[in-house]
Amino acid sequence: MSENQSPFAKKLTKREYEAEVAKTRDERMKWFADAKFGMFVHYGPYAVAGMHEWYLALSASSNEQYEREVTQKFHPKKGCAYEWAKLASEAGCKYMVMVTRHHDGYSMWDSDCNPYNVVKYGHDYDVVAEFVDACRKYNMRIGLYHSIIDWHYPDCGESARDFDARVRFIKYHRDMLTELLTRYGKIDMLWYDMCYPFTGENLDFVATNSLVRTLQPDIIINPRSGLEEDIDTPEEHLNPNGKQKYWEACMTFNGLSWGYVDSEEVAGYSYTPQRIIKMMAETADRNGNLLLNIGPAPDGSVPADAVKPLRTVGEWLKVNGAAIYGASKPLDMWVPNGRTTLKKNNMLYVIQLITPVLGYLPVNGVGAPVKKVRCLTDGKEYQFTQEGTKLTILDVAHGHVDKIAGVTVFEITCGEPFGKFQRAVPPALAATLREEV
Ligand code: GLC
Repeated sequence: MSENQSPFAKKLTKREYEAEVAKTRDERMKWFADAKFGMFVHYGPYAVAGMHEWYLALSASSNEQYEREVTQKFHPKKGCAYEWAKLASEAGCKYMVMVTRHHDGYSMWDSDCNPYNVVKYGHDYDVVAEFVDACRKYNMRIGLYHSIIDWHYPDCGESARDFDARVRFIKYHRDMLTELLTRYGKIDMLWYDMCYPFTGENLDFVATNSLVRTLQPDIIINPRSGLEEDIDTPEEHLNPNGKQKYWEACMTFNGLSWGYVDSEEVAGYSYTPQRIIKMMAETADRNGNLLLNIGPAPDGSVPADAVKPLRTVGEWLKVNGAAIYGASKPLDMWVPNGRTTLKKNNMLYVIQLITPVLGYLPVNGVGAPVKKVRCLTDGKEYQFTQEGTKLTILDVAHGHVDKIAGVTVFEITCGEPFGKFQRAVPPALAATLREEV
């Protein structure tokens, strides 16, 4: 489609824009819906401070002090994006999102419109260019994060009061986005952050995002520019807001910071493979994605506390990935200490975190006749009984069958008729249980 044939080439109202975006959404979201697991990368000068990516604001530093103490000491080492992408691939991720410019305003590419950037600050290194190349090398879909607020750009603050400043600020975003979306080939996702205290309307994101969609017709956009876009992005929790069909939970690796914090110091707060698998199973169970962050060290190397857990998750996914990738429907079933996912081809998966001591595993809410139960972890078939929607998998030994992470997966082949997969509660209990238990 040429740029002027795009439905976004003409001036649209917010309503028209959102309706146009909704029309083609399902088509655009196919890869995302199957992907289920992505890696977020927060890397920028703030890594030098090693406390938090908001260091500039939280320490009440002036831009001059930050530049002197932090930015001037930031020396990314060439090749680091390949390390991130290699780890993402080993972990079983299908896409990556890189922070190209955080709220501190420092661009990680050779920008002509933002001189506060990695190349103009003395490094012969366009990190975004390398990141895009690394994603292609390791077969990752490519996401670029773009902060709307900018603590370094004077017109950002002024925009609240001064109309001319706001016009310049809007243009600044369009120019930066044009660079990002025309210099590096196909980009799959634009990940906005922090429109506050502005709104999508007063920064005219209808026109900006129309431009984005003419430059990259298949791009997925998140809703953080204040418009209704393609996904919902719960942050640091796993609950979608229920308004959007597609969603992605973004999570730090340690509950403390998106930017680098000392790996040894933070290790006790960092996720284990089991907890990552549990989060992934939980998001997949609700038909969402998990976007798990790493905050590389000042030189760009992967934080040590993330390496082993992520590799272990990747090992686990090699054996059990069928339960995660391509899950296609949110489920409302009950399995004690397990999670369930369902595939388009009538395959149900039970991801079992704790194995039973009673010798069998109850699966509550199977809305179809079961034909076969197989354990992905040991490759064996299991006997079962089924009464209505209650399935019982027999002879399940206590203890972890799975030696990689201790999470066992049963694959259940369902036949027709294919009904509702929904927890069933004995009538005597129903009255005492709240709906959302
Ligand atoms: C927030 C924070 C930010 C982080 C982002 C990730 O909005 O401002 O530091 O980059 O969330 O989702």
